[in-house]
Amino acid sequence: MNDIPAPIPATYKIRLATEQDLPQINDIVNHEIAVSINNFNYGPRSEQDGLAWFRATIAGGYPIFVATTTKTVEGDEEEEVVAGYSSLGSFRQKDGYRYTAEYSVYIHHEHRQRGLGKRLIKDLLIEAKVRNFHSIIGSISEDNEASVHLAKSFGFRIVGTMKENGYKFDRWIDNTFLELLI
Ligand SMILES: CC(C)(COP(=O)(O)OP(=O)(O)OC[C@H]1O[C@@H](n2cnc3c(N)ncnc32)[C@H](O)[C@@H]1OP(=O)(O)O)[C@@H](O)C(=O)NCCC(=O)NCCS
Repeated sequence: MNDIPAPIPATYKIRLATEQDLPQINDIVNHEIAVSINNFNYGPRSEQDGLAWFRATIAGGYPIFVATTTKTVEGDEEEEVVAGYSSLGSFRQKDGYRYTAEYSVYIHHEHRQRGLGKRLIKDLLIEAKVRNFHSIIGSISEDNEASVHLAKSFGFRIVGTMKENGYKFDRWIDNTFLELLI
């Protein structure tokens, strides 16, 4: 694991997510669903589905982190902004996969390339170790060089690429799987 934190503007903080963060997490995910093949859903995630995902993730013993910053709003008040999140989730549900988890990381498009992806994965992997996970899986759709680069910088190795196992925006999409034993 990379022990050197990436340079990050001092205004960003990393903390565990709460249900209050969900509307902003949903906005980040829904933007990505609408514009990219990085998420294979076709339609936006509803508030209820977001809440169900959050509760199932926490109940399953998986962490969700957010990167936050603040913005000044009316009356010079400071408002918290969620700039990105990372999470672990079930890889497969059968008992024997209990020490394996799949990770996700999404950074709001206006907050990218500031070291947040790196920081959120770093904290996620530290927490994964604390929670006794053994194998972390990444699933990255084609043409997402930034994500592959980011995963490899933490020691993930490419296990293989599945051809055309996704279909979105009227075309087949390849999917690369990566793993890290922690
Ligand atoms: C992939 C993603 C998480 C990267 O987050 P980020 O905060 O922009 O990444 P960082 O600033 O921490 O950069 C990490 C590394 O990736 C590189 N990188 C990030 N975005 C890049 C881009 N668009 N092109 C080339 N390199 C890029 C950085 O230069 C840095 O490299 P370094 O470690 O050699 O310095 C972000 O682009 C994203 O949310 N994408 C959409 C969702 C997604 O694809 N998630 C992954 C699937 S789970």
